[in-house]
Amino acid sequence: MTLAFSLTPDSPAQVAADAVVAGVYEDRSLSAAAAELDLAAGGAITRLLASGDISGKPGAVTRLLELAGVAAGRVVLVGLGEAGKLDGARYLKACAESAKSLRSGPARRAAVYLPEIEVPGRDLAWRARTAAIAFDAHTYRYSATLKLRPNGDALLELALRAPGAAAALAQADAIAAGVRLARELGNLPPNICNPAYLAAEATRISTSEAGVSLQVLEREEMAQLGMGSLLGVARGSANPPKLIVLRYAGAGAGGTRPYALVGKGITFDSGGISIKPGAGMEEMKFDMMGAATVMGAFLAAVRMRLPLDLVCVVPAVENMPDGDAYRPGDVVTSMSGQTIEIVNTDAEGRLILCDALTYVQRYEPRATVDVATLTGACVVALGKHAHGLMSRHDDLAGELLAAGDASLDRAWRLPLWDDYQPQIDSAFADMANVGGKTAGAITAGCFLARFTDGQRWAHLDIAGTAWDEGRKGMATGRPVGLLSQWLIDRVGA
Ligand code: BES
Ligand code: MN
Ligand code: ZN
Repeated sequence: MTLAFSLTPDSPAQVAADAVVAGVYEDRSLSAAAAELDLAAGGAITRLLASGDISGKPGAVTRLLELAGVAAGRVVLVGLGEAGKLDGARYLKACAESAKSLRSGPARRAAVYLPEIEVPGRDLAWRARTAAIAFDAHTYRYSATLKLRPNGDALLELALRAPGAAAALAQADAIAAGVRLARELGNLPPNICNPAYLAAEATRISTSEAGVSLQVLEREEMAQLGMGSLLGVARGSANPPKLIVLRYAGAGAGGTRPYALVGKGITFDSGGISIKPGAGMEEMKFDMMGAATVMGAFLAAVRMRLPLDLVCVVPAVENMPDGDAYRPGDVVTSMSGQTIEIVNTDAEGRLILCDALTYVQRYEPRATVDVATLTGACVVALGKHAHGLMSRHDDLAGELLAAGDASLDRAWRLPLWDDYQPQIDSAFADMANVGGKTAGAITAGCFLARFTDGQRWAHLDIAGTAWDEGRKGMATGRPVGLLSQWLIDRVGA
């Protein structure tokens, strides 16, 4: 369950809440809400700012308890930095840091006065939506497989003073639900979240949301379609593959050409016969975050009731070594008819995506975006901050970059020039599944491009952005924010 969002017209000094959140600037000036609190508290905030006990540095949090004159028991003051330098990123940081300070309770209901702060280029609706989504993201906890569940004192309700922003809060609710779904699927262990589990999750979506239909293709049906590439990867696993096809008819009146989302759903990537080193291999449970985030964005679009048609295709497969596993040197035939020499069984993502990308063409999409934790090379190139974006369509690339900027879930473009194509040539098949030492993210994109001829298509490599680093790293839910924004922007476009 997401946080329950609502609007409040009440003043921060009188609002019925366990905590109130307001901003202060680095030059010791107060936001409007902080000034209201200060007035009610007889100038206490001004004095604490002057003494240096409260910092206005970007994201700095000060908690004041039992402030005289304020009804709420807790006041959270968050630094906004220099007034002239406040931008969307700093605003988001202020939301995130104040949310973290309330994450483990005991406050159940918080009233947040950050949306009313002016941010250049970001309107009230954006500020309300961003605050709501950030608070939800930072109060999410993983608990599905913990015997000792974290205490139940978490934040449950969020009231915002943002007059007229009800529609923005409804959007926030839908997007937060999509982000939560994606993160939960990613955080679940691979012995639970296998291809059948992803299919069951899709079933839950299709039965609980109006306008959604579902088809799940089994191994035999995929064989009939000639998906030799996807099925090659699946051979080593005892968990049978699924091809999940979710559709949403939002456009009404006979329907229109849909937008298509395709997500890599490798529920565990051992590398297969080209097995990965042991250290960090457990992180390869996140190799289905492309699948999880396209399902999350799909759910968000459905909950927003966007007036457009959508199709979401998820090839769900586990990549394992086995006596029956596919091997380096094998040549497989994809659904497109093109043959592929397997040089490395660990370059499996592109092998399941290519058949999904061929399959989705039957829906004649207006545009297709695939999302995949595809290459370690993308992490080397762009680190943990930007998704790698590849497309031969400048207009589509521009739409996605703009959606990333708007949602602060940003992508950065890499070239897909034909100059790179010879790197995946093969003497034994129409192409090889790896492209050598250099430009690994791009040669993976070039491989996918060979299956999207004539399609308006873009590829997002989320290998660096899908989860936080380290043993305790959690799924981020990115790029649900970018994709949801892109779909919102498509309405009427
Ligand atoms: N799932 C991995 C990519 C990956 C690696 C994502 C690290 C996130 C962090 C993918 O299937 C893979 O193994 N790619 C190989 C490709 C190589 C064999 C050409 C890689 O990046 O090393
Ligand atoms: Mn791999
Ligand atoms: Zn993989």
